[in-house]
Amino acid sequence: MNPTFPITCPSVHATPSDPDKRQWLIATGVAGGAAALATAVPFVSTFAPSERAKAAGGPVEVDISDIPPGGMKTVEWRGKPVWVVRRTPEMLAALQGHESELVDPQSAKEQQPPYAKNPARAIKPEVFVAIGICTHLGCSPSDAPKGGNNPGLPADWPGGFFCPCHGSTFDGAGRVYRNKPAPTNLEIPPHRYAGATRILIGDDTA
Ligand code: FES
Repeated sequence: MNPTFPITCPSVHATPSDPDKRQWLIATGVAGGAAALATAVPFVSTFAPSERAKAAGGPVEVDISDIPPGGMKTVEWRGKPVWVVRRTPEMLAALQGHESELVDPQSAKEQQPPYAKNPARAIKPEVFVAIGICTHLGCSPSDAPKGGNNPGLPADWPGGFFCPCHGSTFDGAGRVYRNKPAPTNLEIPPHRYAGATRILIGDDTA
């Protein structure tokens, strides 16, 4: 369970001398406040102490075997929250049909790992890994599942992520919708599989 911090906009509480710490406080604070939104999908955030210790620098290994279908685990890497989502077939199907509404459906604009340049933005489509920080001003979007209690989102919302700071919306692959302030898709961190159920965040060199 995430600690609960006040929801804070970075445009109000910028601390230039320690940007990573500021960004992490903002991210965890918004994620904690938004946890109540995830009612339809059993998203779970977990911060293991060992992962906290590793987060200061090197790669972080994540065990994905305990993430249920439709669930999410959050780990800390270099002071940032990294989401690992186990997608269901329904979540994968929901990535199609709204490409014309997206800023960059093919992830061609911003620099991304080559394995993110596909509609699922993933090495394995059923597992989505992304940095949970809005590309507008650094808040952490909340998970906004299809069929969940998502105030402000349309009734036919296909599922994805919503940033409460200024209203940016992202689909289930972290692709940003048009006419919202966030300019680019959510960032995909370098990562690779270290086994069938283990992912190494921060290292894709092997
Ligand atoms: S920080 Fe402004 S929309 Fe996310």
